[in-house]
Amino acid sequence: MTLQPSGSLTPDQPIGIFDSGVGGLSVLRSLRQTLPFESILYLADQAHVPYGPRPLEEVRAFSASITRFLLAQGAKLIVVACNAASAAALHYLRQEFPAIQFVGMEPAVKPAAETTQTNHVGVLATPATLQGSLYASVVERFAHGVVIHEDPCPGLVEQIEKGALDQPETRAILERALQPMLAAQIDTIVLGCTHYPFVIPMIRSICGQGVRVIDPAPAVARQAARLLEASGLAAPGPHPGTVQYFTSGSAGELARILQSWLGVQANVTALAWNALHLEPA
Ligand code: DGL
Repeated sequence: MTLQPSGSLTPDQPIGIFDSGVGGLSVLRSLRQTLPFESILYLADQAHVPYGPRPLEEVRAFSASITRFLLAQGAKLIVVACNAASAAALHYLRQEFPAIQFVGMEPAVKPAAETTQTNHVGVLATPATLQGSLYASVVERFAHGVVIHEDPCPGLVEQIEKGALDQPETRAILERALQPMLAAQIDTIVLGCTHYPFVIPMIRSICGQGVRVIDPAPAVARQAARLLEASGLAAPGPHPGTVQYFTSGSAGELARILQSWLGVQANVTALAWNALHLEPA
């Protein structure tokens, strides 16, 4: 049974999704597969990437302004496709915008803890995520009897933003993080940053096939689908949805990455920050 659409929102409105940069594209990819009829607004805050090393208050302020922008463009649901922004702002956003449903990210410690055979799990995430209370609560609730090995992978987000997915420097960052974890017998790696699924091939080449890598994007897409269905806001089809891309960084650079990673030819709209407001550049 579905409920009536909440407030004045309607099923034909788009989903808004944001990240500090190109990481959220890993979530967008899953959303497109799970919800092909939905139109989507994707916003990359590349003027401020990386979020990970920034104070949580700053990331919270960016996240609130981005949410306001996406709502002004007609978004009916917001996917915070960024672990750092979820750590910093998810709770605040739900309080500040009570009429809107949010889907956030948290490191997938629960499925990892449930399936590990060695009781050693690796978590790759940025400092903002590892320091946030969301992560602490996930570890406290679900990691009983499991040793968690964390690494903030300094420089990895920047490498991925540059499109340097198979460069020696990217491999060096991952080897430094993963080798001590492998020596400690991890059999599962949780990707706690939406940028990292783009280096899964390199992670696998370092860890071998015996280590399971958990990308939370499909679970996040399923959660968005459940919320839309339950609130009567799911786009009915049959026409495929469209995606509109925005960046506070270089539109040309984002268009290049979209083409090379997703095979998508898209017009990207450039935005500029004016104090804490996003405006057309
Ligand atoms: N993709 C992000 C995350 O999931 C943010 C990375 C960053 O900007 O530091 O945490």
